[in-house]
Amino acid sequence: MNLHNRIGVDLASFDRLLREVVSSDRDLPPSSVVLSSVMDLINAGGKRLRPLMVVLGSRFGESGHEPAVMKTAVLLEYLHMASLVHDDIIDQSDMRRGRPTLHETTDVQTAVHIGNYMIARAIEWAAGHPGGDPDGSSEDVSEDEAYRLAELAALVTELCMGEYDQLHHRFDFGLTMEQYLEKTRCKTALLMAHCLKAGAEAAHADAGTAERLFQFGESLGMAFQIQDDLLDFTKPKEAIGKPAGADLRNGNITLPVLYALNDPALAPKIRQLGPHSAAADMDDVIQRIAASGAIEQSEEFARSYAEHARRMIGDFADHPAQRDLQALLHYFLP
Ligand code: IPE
Ligand code: IPE
Ligand code: MG
Ligand code: MG
Repeated sequence: MNLHNRIGVDLASFDRLLREVVSSDRDLPPSSVVLSSVMDLINAGGKRLRPLMVVLGSRFGESGHEPAVMKTAVLLEYLHMASLVHDDIIDQSDMRRGRPTLHETTDVQTAVHIGNYMIARAIEWAAGHPGGDPDGSSEDVSEDEAYRLAELAALVTELCMGEYDQLHHRFDFGLTMEQYLEKTRCKTALLMAHCLKAGAEAAHADAGTAERLFQFGESLGMAFQIQDDLLDFTKPKEAIGKPAGADLRNGNITLPVLYALNDPALAPKIRQLGPHSAAADMDDVIQRIAASGAIEQSEEFARSYAEHARRMIGDFADHPAQRDLQALLHYFLP
């Protein structure tokens, strides 16, 4: 069963809200490429994991704050979608969610701007929709809400730094485990951590619970990115809806590569790779890594993060929403 069915969330009505963010922008003419591109991105689907995490976090608070919760969920999915648009440019990926990427269907300059627009518009929309007021008409954004919005906007800078670190260390086979973990935390885990926490805060959960949810989400996010790094070696392009083997080709040093660098037979072959390596040499190394013990070691490492999250579930034992966290964990650690 899908995660959204398991935790009882109606994604169709959530998608309507996503569309509303752009359709309600009076500055966008109906014929705008920006409008149609964002609609296409929304229609391409995606798992909507981050908004589901927001809703899940909110279940640790009070009911009656749905508008604030949905607003947070929309904002965070927009930040995620925009980061994918920019990430695909950086990674030179031609497929996303099973479709051609935005910079393929338009061009790099247009896609950069649309990604920027999505971040700015989502924040503008959220700031113009006070939590207690579904129509977003009269009431002002409260001080608490303004603080939360600022915190989420700051998250974008951390995400950018994670992506920048990765770019900066392309083909740097001296990357340390600590550096890999820090960039992974910034580019992926913090967003997931903030989803659970912001959902909890939007529903006025207590601060201690919100903080524990943050830590739970951070562990899941680390496991998620390592699993994604693994899929790049283990799954064909058709299965993941985006190009496989592309990380190393782009010089992106992921966990399987770090482990493979400890293998004396493999390390020299990896170290000789660079941006101008022949495709056949690249393919050969990718296949060797995929067949090496580095895959199992990375799986084990991802599992250790998910296990850490599993142990944390005990902290929520007195709460009815604990079973929803279990469903989420099961999704990350089947
Ligand atoms: C992709 O995230 C980016 C990573 C952090 C690996 P998802 O796999 O959640 O992407 P969508 O939203 O389902 O397309
Ligand atoms: C995650 O990194 C993307 C962001 C956090 C923006 P990846 O580059 O590994 O994600 P995919 O594999 O392209 O989805
Ligand atoms: Mg990428
Ligand atoms: Mg990836």
